[in-house]
Amino acid sequence: MNEQSEIVSINRKTYANAKVLDYYDGLTELFPAEKGLFEHLSSKIEKARILDIGVGGGRTTQYLLPRASAYTGIDYVPEFIVRVKKKYPTGTFIVGDARDLGEFNDEAFDFVLFSYNGIDVVLHEDRIRILNEMNRVLKKGGMIMFSSHNRDYRHFRKPYWLTEPKFNLSFVKNLLSYVFFLPRHLRMRKHEVFNDEYGIVNDQDHRFSLLVYYINVSRQIKQLEDTGMSDVKAYNMKGDQVIADKDSFWIYYLATK
Ligand SMILES: C[S@@+](CC[C@H](N)C(=O)[O-])C[C@H]1O[C@@H](n2cnc3c(N)ncnc32)[C@H](O)[C@@H]1O
Repeated sequence: MNEQSEIVSINRKTYANAKVLDYYDGLTELFPAEKGLFEHLSSKIEKARILDIGVGGGRTTQYLLPRASAYTGIDYVPEFIVRVKKKYPTGTFIVGDARDLGEFNDEAFDFVLFSYNGIDVVLHEDRIRILNEMNRVLKKGGMIMFSSHNRDYRHFRKPYWLTEPKFNLSFVKNLLSYVFFLPRHLRMRKHEVFNDEYGIVNDQDHRFSLLVYYINVSRQIKQLEDTGMSDVKAYNMKGDQVIADKDSFWIYYLATK
């Protein structure tokens, strides 16, 4: 296995891990920015044909399914699909990989979502393929939405417990966990990639078991424009529109076909 495909396989294995499945399965709340953006997009979402990529435990399904005219969720981890089918019997759920949406026709959807930074666990070339696929299956005038880790974040590459250090029980727990998982982190760091456009980094997510793509706002906007999307807008985690941001760990993007 080459270095690049190893990154893909490490990340997929992490999402298929029983504890990680339970974590996403247990999530029920939309994030503040998602609440605001979904409200802002309500006319685009109501009665729309919606594709929810990387649906996980269906955190966004509960909001989108009742509003859609047709709702399809896909995930490349079969166990997630088994679970969401049970939770939401009226939705359509399919095991599928965002890198190849070949089972869907061109312009099959009005709104395409890849929530909670799910797009960040593939290689750069695959990310571009996914953006092109999201564009292809979207009807003219339709919108895509996703979030992605922010390379300009002031705490980029810092363990979470060092971002706002307060000496309390949680600080001590996080410190101990960091020390415990340090050997894994050091192994994973060997796969990291840095260049002008993006970084692929082993951050603390799921106990240092993911390699995660980070990009800044202007580079992400350019990637989207290069796929032919227009009217690209970026929002921080509070839901405020931004052109650059150092305080937001990840950024939400909206773009129109
Ligand atoms: C961070 S979780 C988010 C889950 C859910 N959308 C949410 O917001 O709570 C990312 C999800 O994307 C899925 N995923 C990652 N890469 C994928 C790909 N290439 N194709 C399909 N699903 C993918 C993972 O299996 C995981 O369920």
